[in-house]
Amino acid sequence: MGEIATKIGERTAPFEMAPSILSADFTRLGEEIAAVEAGGATVLHVDVMDGKFVPNITIGLPVVKSLRKCTRIKIDAHLMIEEPGRYAADFVKAGADMVSVHVEADPHIHRTIGAIKAEGALAGVVINPATPIAALDEILHYADYVLLMSVNPGFGGQKFIPPVLDKLRRLKEIVRERGLDTLLEIDGGVDEEIIADIVAAGADIVVAGSAVFGKDDPAKAVRDLLDSGSDWV
Ligand code: DX5
Ligand code: ZN
Repeated sequence: MGEIATKIGERTAPFEMAPSILSADFTRLGEEIAAVEAGGATVLHVDVMDGKFVPNITIGLPVVKSLRKCTRIKIDAHLMIEEPGRYAADFVKAGADMVSVHVEADPHIHRTIGAIKAEGALAGVVINPATPIAALDEILHYADYVLLMSVNPGFGGQKFIPPVLDKLRRLKEIVRERGLDTLLEIDGGVDEEIIADIVAAGADIVVAGSAVFGKDDPAKAVRDLLDSGSDWV
């Protein structure tokens, strides 16, 4: 836990809570972020979508640049874009501390991972729910973290896909067997019901959008998720 805390944030729970601003009120983004920080969030998840790799368009570099000025917690840019290698390093320059790229979107992911690290950020590899763990085989060693999608990427507010829990357990085991310190992140459909199972299965970072910003009190929502996620310990 200490090691991961130094690597990413200053967590007090056995995992990092990463609210996704996709579900935030963009007219009050600064306030929303202050609230989740007060609730104990140590990572801020930023969903970047291009309308091609996924059927939705969200935000990009200028927003990350602005976010960097209003928060000290780690910015985690999740790139759901085609040709992510063209932009990954720019997200680090804009202020991201972590940048993740989908294997499905990048035939040159080894190069992209290297570019992210060269700029000084943690590099993540993402796989969709239907992409097997085997797709990570040759790149796992190079990734600082792996993000397992627990919904099909593109939208907030979808239902968690249960078999991803077993996928997470299996990947945790592979990471252990290989003696790696790769962090594991889960993204999509996380709520208070499922979060303890996710942390028990081995997640180090847990993303939640609607379960945080869809609530009246996002600070309390983060606290509650951190509490529920620590329940199994
Ligand atoms: C989905 C995004 C997620 C999303 C999570 O494509 O990658 O980060 O914002 O939202 P919830 O927690 O509402 O499923
Ligand atoms: Zn995401």
